[in-house]
Order: sequence, then C-alpha cells, then structure tokens
Amino acid sequence: MDGTTYLADYTPYPFNIDKVSLRFRLAPHATRVQAHIAMTPLSPGAALRLDGEQLRLISAAIDGVALTPSDYLITPSGMTIHPAALPEAPFTLETEVEIAPEGNTALEGLYMSNGMYCTQCEAEGFRKITYYPDRPDVMAPFSVRIEGDLPVLLSNGNPVASGPGWAEWDDPWPKPAYLFALVAGDLVAHSGSFTTASGREVALNIFVRPGDEDRCAFALGALQRSMKWDEEAYGREYDLDIFNIVAVDDFNMGAMENKGLNIFNSKLVLASPETATDTDYERIEAVIAHEYFHNWTGNRITCRDWFQLCLKEGLTVFRDQSFIADMRLGPVKRIEDVIALRARQFREDQGPLAHPPRPDHYREINNFYTATVYEKGAEVVGMLRTLVGDEGYRKALDLYFERHDGQACTIEDWIKVFEDSSGRDLGQFKRWYTDAGTPRLRVTDDYADDTYTLTFEQHTPPTPGQPHKAPRHMPIAVGLLSPNGNEVVPTTVLEMTEARQSFTFTGLSTRPVPSILRNFSAPAVLERATSAAEQAFLLAHDTDPFNRWEAARSLARQTLMDMTKGAPPAAEYLDAIGRLLADDTADPAFRALILRLPGEDEIAQALHASGTTPDPEAIHAARGALMTTLAQRHEVALSATYESMAVPGAYTPDAAPAGCRSLRLAALALLSQIDGARRAEALFASADNMTESLSALSNLITAGKAEGALAQFRSRWKDVRLVMDKWFLVQASLCPPKTAAERVTTLAADPAFEWKNPNRFRSLLGAFSANHAGFHRADGAGYRFYADWLIRLDPLNPQTAARMSTAFETWPRYDKTRQALVRTELERIASSDGLSRDLSEMTARLLG
Ligand code: PHE
Ligand code: ZN
Repeated sequence: MDGTTYLADYTPYPFNIDKVSLRFRLAPHATRVQAHIAMTPLSPGAALRLDGEQLRLISAAIDGVALTPSDYLITPSGMTIHPAALPEAPFTLETEVEIAPEGNTALEGLYMSNGMYCTQCEAEGFRKITYYPDRPDVMAPFSVRIEGDLPVLLSNGNPVASGPGWAEWDDPWPKPAYLFALVAGDLVAHSGSFTTASGREVALNIFVRPGDEDRCAFALGALQRSMKWDEEAYGREYDLDIFNIVAVDDFNMGAMENKGLNIFNSKLVLASPETATDTDYERIEAVIAHEYFHNWTGNRITCRDWFQLCLKEGLTVFRDQSFIADMRLGPVKRIEDVIALRARQFREDQGPLAHPPRPDHYREINNFYTATVYEKGAEVVGMLRTLVGDEGYRKALDLYFERHDGQACTIEDWIKVFEDSSGRDLGQFKRWYTDAGTPRLRVTDDYADDTYTLTFEQHTPPTPGQPHKAPRHMPIAVGLLSPNGNEVVPTTVLEMTEARQSFTFTGLSTRPVPSILRNFSAPAVLERATSAAEQAFLLAHDTDPFNRWEAARSLARQTLMDMTKGAPPAAEYLDAIGRLLADDTADPAFRALILRLPGEDEIAQALHASGTTPDPEAIHAARGALMTTLAQRHEVALSATYESMAVPGAYTPDAAPAGCRSLRLAALALLSQIDGARRAEALFASADNMTESLSALSNLITAGKAEGALAQFRSRWKDVRLVMDKWFLVQASLCPPKTAAERVTTLAADPAFEWKNPNRFRSLLGAFSANHAGFHRADGAGYRFYADWLIRLDPLNPQTAARMSTAFETWPRYDKTRQALVRTELERIASSDGLSRDLSEMTARLLG
C-alpha cells in the first residue's frame, strides 16, 4: 500500500548526531525554534534527509554559511540537503523555524493546553518542532534554552541556569528526539526528594495548575516507591539530579516518559479521596511506575525503529505489573491484568485489527500503540521469565542493561540476551513476537495404570495476512489435585513445542483433577470440556488463586452463554457463589473479583468463539437476570457482606480497605437489583469518597432512579474536570441500552461536553461504546452517532479519532444486519473529505 513503512526496509542513518542545542522563543502563534546540530557524516556522498512538518523555515546554514534554496529541497514531510552542499568532515547545521502551538489541536509536537505550553513527541511529533532525523535510532545529547514570559520553564535533563523569562537545561544522556520535552506555564510544584542506593539526592517535583497542588501527594509517594523498587528488583538507579512530572489536561494518551520530564494526563496524577476512586489510585500508581521505569527500559535502552515498540512497552508494562503485584495483592493484580488482557487484547486478536506484538508494516505508527504491543508484549516477557526462572530472568536483564545501555535495539537483541544468559534456543519462542492471534489450546486427558496423561493440541486461527501459523513454544503451568481436594502434583511447567503433545504423570493411585494454565502461564484460550461440577471443585480446592478465580469465571461465562439461549442459571454456579460468600478466609478483593460477572462484551466474545452469533439484547438481559437471581438466592449473605465490609474511619487508598470496598460494592450491585436501589440511595447520600459515591450513582442509573442524584453530583462537581468526566462516563456506559443513543445525543449537546478535550470525548464516546447493547442497537443508531463524532473529531485530532475507531473492531462477530450497518458507517467515514492518514488506515483495516 502507498505510504507504507516496512520493517524489512530498515537502513541506518548515514550521519551521527554529536550534539543538539535548541533555543525556543515562545509565542502562541509564532514560536521560533533555533536548532544547532553538530553532526558527522558516516557515509560519504549521502544526502542529509531531515524530517519536518508544518514548519516555516526562516533560515538554514552549515558551519555559519547560509544555505541557498538550490542547496536543499523542502516537501511537506521534510527537507533534504543535497550532498554537494555538505562537508565531508564533521559540521554544524543551524536552522530556524517558526511554529504555531496555539492552533495545534492534534496535541502532537508543541501545543497549548489552558495557557500552558507542552510537547508530545512520541512517536513522530518532534518533526513538528524542528527539522531533524526524527527516528529512534538517532540518539544525541540535547541542551535547551527556553525564552518565554512564564514562571515555570522546563525541559529534559538537569537545570543549568535561569533568570526572569528564560531557563537553560542540559541532558547529558544521548536520547532519541521522541523523548524530547518542553513545558512552560504558570504552574506550581508539589515537591519531595529521593536518595538513591548510592546516596545521591534527587529532587522530585510534580507540576500542576494552581489549585491542584493538594491532589499530588499520592503520585509523589508512588514515584518514590517506584524508584526504590527499581533499585531492588532490577538494580536500576536514577541518573539525573532532578525528576519532574507535569500534569496536563489535554493529552491524547495516558502519560509520556520524556527523559527527566514525564508528562502526564492529569487524570493519572491528581487524586484525592473525594475526587478519585480506588481504581483511579491504583491506575495512577501503575502509570507513575510505568513512566519512571521507562528511564531504563525505553530511554537508556531504546528502540531501533518503531516496529520494535514492544521492546520498550511490553517490558515496561511487565515491570509495572510486577511492581503493583508487589505493592498490593499479587494474585488479585494478576487476575485484574488477565481480565484486561482478554477484554482488550484477545478482542483485538479476534478481529480485523489483529497484528503481531512486533508488526512488520504500518502506515501510521500511532495506530500501533495497542493492547497487543503493550499487554501481550508484557505476557511474552512473563513467559520468558517462566521459561528461564526468576534467577535466570534477573541474569538476562542484567546482561541486557550491561550489553545494550545507550543503544537502540531490536527484539532480536532482546531474545539473544535470554539465549546467551540461559544457554537456551529461543528461536521458536520468537514466534510470539512475529505471529498474530491467540492460540487455542485443546486439552484431553487419560488415566490408566496409575498414569495420568494430558494431551494438548494448539491451533492459532488465521489473522489478516497470516493464514497459517506454526506451533509456538508455550509454557503450560499445571498442577494436579486428588478427588479429595489435596494437591498431588504441585505446579509444574510443561513446555509445549509441537502442534500436538502429551505429558504423563506417574504414580497416581486415583484419577486426578487437573489445574491447567496456572497463573495464566501463556496467553491462550483453553478449550477443555469440563463439567460445572469440576469447575466448582477447582473453585473450592485449587491452590492456585488464579485458577480458582478462573474456575468461577468460566462457570459464570458458561452460565451466561447458556442463559442467552434460554437455559436457567446453573445450580453449581449459584451454589459456588454461596459458599464463597460464606468463606471469610478468602481475601475480600479476591472474593469481589469472583462476585463480579463477566461483562457483556466478554460474553459476546465467548459466544463468537464457540460459533454462536451473539445477540446483544439477549446478553444484556441474561446478565441482568443472573444478577437478580444471585441477589434473590443470596440476599441474606450479600446483605451481611455489604454491612460487614463497610470500612470504618477516614478513607485511604491502601489495598486492604480498597479490597473491602470492592467486595462491598460488588454486593451492592447485586442487591440493587432487588432492593429498589434503597441501599445505593443511602450510600450516595452518605459517601465521603468518590469510590462509593460513583458506585452508588452507577447503581442508581442502572435502576433508572438517578435523575436527582445526577443533578446533585453535577452541581457539586461542575468545576472539577476529572469528576465531570465521570458524570458523563457513568451515564453513557450504564444508561438503558434501548434509549442509550438518544441519551448520549442529549449529553453531546450539553454545554459541558467539551469535545476537543480527549478525556471528555472518551468519557462520552468511549463509555458509550462500552454500553454493549446500546452501542450495538439493532437499528444502527449507536453506530451512526459514533461515526458522526469520529468524522467530526478527525480533522482536529486524528490520533484520538483513529484510536477510538477500534470500537468497531468486533463487527464481524454480529449478525448480517448489524454487519451491514457497521460497514455503511465505516465506508461513510472512509469517504469523508480530508480524512487523516490515521483514521484512513484504521477504516481500511477494519473493512478488511
Ligand atoms: N510511551 C507512552 C507510554 O507508554 C505512551 C505514549 C505514546 C504517549 C505516544 C504519548 C504518545 O508509556
Ligand atoms: Zn510505555
């Protein structure tokens, strides 16, 4: 396809960049950027190709001599200086350009948010700031001078000098341009410090808009915990004198790991008990850690090209997941991560957007910041650790840092480190990086003469461009239980490498019950005919907490699937939930996870995988009916749980009280089905924290009794943007599906719907697409509304519009009528005037 970039076409850049000095003279409509770039030619006779977009060139000179227009060629994508105009020895290129941050609604490059200047350069935003080789394998030390009439002027590295209206920064660590950052604004800092293992003191600052400084303490603590953890778990110390975080309201993604100057979506920094939920707190801690951990996995060692994105993202997600598992309850965290993996990545793998963790072509790299690159990338790292063991993993990572510090690397480099440190051949394992799709793992078993045999067959369905898949090297963690519930074979990792493979266990006097894929040791779909009784047995007896939960989850999923076809709820499931509610030995957070039913999209995904066309209305009805049945059946126990899990005293976001709240609110969701939302009403009136307040409000919406509460919530929070986002979100995601399209249409007309702000856009549109039966309404009203807004957003912010088009990725699952309705909308988007490259790549892939 035209404009496609291929992995196979990689060639190194023919110049070394020795040093970059930048000078910014800030002005909203006409910022001047002077660049002073010292370089050494590596390949005589090569032209000097620089990326640059939406720049107005003021001047260009080499070694102090002005270039004339015949020395270079300027196109909309960059500037090429002819070889004849270039010295053969090291030289300095000086350019000056003018840019307009005020009009930059794409939020890429230098832009403005509420009067504050801010940059976002990953993946290819630096080219909107100045002419430069904007590719990750070109690394250089940067120094920056900022001139602007604003109190806070920040860039990467260490502060050098400053005065009224100017500041200078120096970053000694060579970095690719995507890690460049600049911030200027009227900001206040919440400050602290950290002393590294070797005794250096690092100044820490969280910069926010005045008025927000009392919501930064949690983020600062999370940063300090992350710094300590990275020293202990990975031996990684911080390497500058200062670490700054800035919170910005207008941001396309979650956060960005710019060297020494992380920039965050304010929703991932600001938290107080009254405004943030337990989930928000946990997410803030994870993302603060994630961006901090990038300092080593991403910044000190970066990616050779953007195809290698999962080298930094998969590893860094794996690291932040391990960190949270250590800070909180490990098994609970693992279950949460797998729920998210299935909801986002398995879903992606099942549809037209499926791609490998390391893709081999793209049109717009921004479209590849996906669940597959991030979350599946993390699973692949987890499998490597399972294969080489904890010590082997630490050895491999030590070698990785030692061998590759300061380099721009590939997945091949990464795998080689594991091969060299463990002595193992990981050639077949590499398929996890290059092949798309979720493997299906069919299991059969056999028992005879004290010997138990497990036979696995693996098969990965076709994905776009990859019709046939070879078998993968898969670690399958297995344990065996005796019928009385004792573990007779503890967790053992079986290494599957063939398409079909058997493993035997000897010396077993009775036929055991297998617990397969413990801790979700490989991201596969297990296909095994098991009875509800066996699932209930595992839920009661498995020693692996993940598989206990998994047993309950499959019971619930199967029950719901059967209910969509008219069957009554499975007795085994209802009884198992009763036993669980009575089990005070199980952790509340764990019990809460079991009590929460699979979402409607997960049920649709499972139906599709089993060959049934999902019916969104039937799924919605079945889920509601099961909740009601559970509530009726266990009313007494649920009510007791609701009371006993109330957390006394002042709110703290710690894991233990959050776990109690989670269980309490899971009980509330069920009870609200049968108590006329009486408890939810009372809780809404009394709650002193956002976790309970929002959950109460959600139940009132589901019960159709929220109008008063919504008005009250709005008048209390109208000036707090992040909380108003929640006001939109709960309505769009939970309002009754039959009238959801009308509801969101009304919400979109509300003056508070500031649609150019990505968070606000997502809290209406993203939340609506999660209202499964509402979005997939049979008359297509949901699809039409959604497509209208993508078309409207695209010219302003293509990145967010393209990302949100993934709501349509599940269309092949549904009936022919819905398929046709979605196609109509996708074709309408595709034929819009001036469609961005981002969204046009997405619609092309979605249409297949
Ligand atoms: N690299 C950022 C992160 O993971 C994500 C990001 C990508 C942010 C592109 C902005 C733009 O952690
Ligand atoms: Zn990241």
